[in-house]
Amino acid sequence: MQSQTSSAGIHSDNYRFLQKHVYTQSGIVLEEDKHYLFENRLTPIVRQLGLGSINDLCALLQATRQEEISRRVVEAMTTNETYFFRDPSHYDAIRSVLLPRLAQERRDNKRMRFWSAAASTGQESYSLAMSLLEGGFGDWDIQILGTDFSSQVLERAKSGKFHQIEVNRGLPAALLVKYFRRAGVDWQVSEAARRMTRFETIDLRKSMRSLGPFDLVFCRNVLIYFDTETKQKIMEEIHGTLFRGGWLLLGGAETAFGVEKWFERQNIGSATVYAAR
Ligand SMILES: C[S@@+](CC[C@H](N)C(=O)[O-])C[C@H]1O[C@@H](n2cnc3c(N)ncnc32)[C@H](O)[C@@H]1O
Repeated sequence: MQSQTSSAGIHSDNYRFLQKHVYTQSGIVLEEDKHYLFENRLTPIVRQLGLGSINDLCALLQATRQEEISRRVVEAMTTNETYFFRDPSHYDAIRSVLLPRLAQERRDNKRMRFWSAAASTGQESYSLAMSLLEGGFGDWDIQILGTDFSSQVLERAKSGKFHQIEVNRGLPAALLVKYFRRAGVDWQVSEAARRMTRFETIDLRKSMRSLGPFDLVFCRNVLIYFDTETKQKIMEEIHGTLFRGGWLLLGGAETAFGVEKWFERQNIGSATVYAAR
């Protein structure tokens, strides 16, 4: 029996197949009203593969084990929106309170460890690196680990190269001049900032205990894509990677559901930060 077809042309059984595929592979929940998103994101893959439609792509994925195509489909469905110094109140808190406290606590070994847990193209990691350089920590032993599900975005993060439109978003002109140089039409971040960073493909739903211990973890604008159970598991895992009293920073739109079990909520200026119990 022919299944119903949505306005975007995806048969309803194929829509359910895609929802389930993305969920099992990444934990991302895509609701019933995301036809336009599948259409926008998957049409380029359909074209590259010389297929006629998203329904053909589903048939291909269902018929044979297509690891590479399967991964491309899931990566295409991730939302990678990010920009420099996103949520400036977090960086104000880092500059004014968190780094001075860490500087005091770590003054003997001069070592600090950070994690950007959904790093996307790296703006979060490099914003932190610039904050550290501006704070006078250039000669400290600093590591900022940036991880993401999508290897495509991490390739860009590793390159440290940004388009004009990206450096126009959130990055103060003074920091652009100080920490970037022209690379053709793009901008290359300085070696001093790059040296502090490292990028790795990691699915947040996997065990992450071996990554830490960290002084501070960013987990921003990614929990919104997960269901409650996945969010709680991730919170518990992140807690396990932090030093006691270490900080977690969440995205502005993220309800910290169940987070109080492992973290104590604190306000610093207009920022909310969570300290590991
Ligand atoms: C909207 S970006 C957030 C970037 C940055 N943290 C910020 O706030 O600007 C969300 C990122 O989460 C990643 N992501 C989605 N599911 C993931 C998973 N299961 N494990 C790791 N990263 C995931 C996506 O690939 C995407 O790059």
